[in-house]
Amino acid sequence: MSQSDVTTLNQKFAIPGQLEFTEDVGGLIIARIANKQAQSTIALQGAHVMTFEPVGEKPVIWLSPAAKLVLGKSIRGGVPICWPWFGAHATDSTFPAHGFARTVPWQVVASEALSDGSTRVTFELPQSSIPAAQWPHACRVRNIVTIGKEMTVELVTENTGQAMFEISEALHTYFVISDVDKIRITGLEGCTYLDKVGDWQRRTQDGAITIAAEVDRLYVNTDSDCLIDDNGHKRCIRIAKRGSLSTVVWNPWVEKAAKMGDFGSDTGYRGMVCVESANAAENVVKVAAGATHSLHVTYSIENI
Ligand code: BG6
Repeated sequence: MSQSDVTTLNQKFAIPGQLEFTEDVGGLIIARIANKQAQSTIALQGAHVMTFEPVGEKPVIWLSPAAKLVLGKSIRGGVPICWPWFGAHATDSTFPAHGFARTVPWQVVASEALSDGSTRVTFELPQSSIPAAQWPHACRVRNIVTIGKEMTVELVTENTGQAMFEISEALHTYFVISDVDKIRITGLEGCTYLDKVGDWQRRTQDGAITIAAEVDRLYVNTDSDCLIDDNGHKRCIRIAKRGSLSTVVWNPWVEKAAKMGDFGSDTGYRGMVCVESANAAENVVKVAAGATHSLHVTYSIENI
C-alpha cells in the first residue's frame, strides 16, 4: 500500500491522542492505538491485533520477535483470525490452513473514541479480498476491536446471500506468559477434547491444563470463561466469550516451534500459549440467509 493510503486513512479515521496509522517497513499498514488505558497495534492485513498492553501491565498478547510482517503471510503471534474455516479445509487440502482472512487486506470502516476512554476500530473484509474459488458466498465480515483496560474483539459474519452457509472460525490468540512451567489453564475441566497430538482421539480434561510437552487440543461444547493463571507474572488472564462453543489450547513445544522458523529463540515457545475462542468440529456454525453470527471475546487481567 502506498503512503497516500496511510494519509487517507489518517484523514478519515485518526483520533488525535488515541489512534494513528503508519506504514511498516514490510509494507503493512498498522493502526496504532495509545489511549489513557492501553496501547495496541493492529495490522490492516488480516485485521490482525499484534499487541495489547494495558497501562501499568506487562503485555498481554504475545508477538514473536521473529514475526514476519510481510504482505500475504500470516503474522506469528497476536490475534490471527481463522475464517471461514479453522485448521485444514474440510474437502480441499490446497486451500490455506485456517482460511484466507488472516493473510488478505481488510479495510477500516469506522473509528470511535468511546466515552469510557477506550478506542474502537472496525475493520471489514472487502469483497476483493475474498477468493471466490475458496468462498463463493455473499457475506459481510467485520472485526470490531475495542482497546481499553480490557480488549474486546468481535468477529461478525453476516450472510448477505440467498442460501445458508457454514463456517468454522477462531480468534487464534497468543498470550504472553512468564513460563510454561508456571501456568495453569482453568475453565475446561471435564470438557471433551479432540487431541491433535494423539491422533485426534477424544479425551476428557481432568483438572486444570498444565503444559510440559506439545499441546494441541480442540475442546468442544464449551462456552465458559478460560483463565490463564500465571504464578510467575502474578496475574490471571481472563478470556470471556460469547458465540463460541469451542476452545483450542496450543503450545508447539521445542521441535514444532523450531520447524516453524518464526518463533524467535529456541526457548520462544516457553513464553507463550494460545487459547483460541473458536467454533470448529461439531461446533461449526450455520449462518442462514440474512442472519448474522458474532464471535465476541473480552480479554482482561486480574492480579493474583
Ligand atoms: C492451532 C492448531 O490452532 O494453530 C495447530 O491447532 C497449528 O495445529 C497452530 O499448528 C498454528 O497454525 P499456523 O497455521 O498459524 O502455523
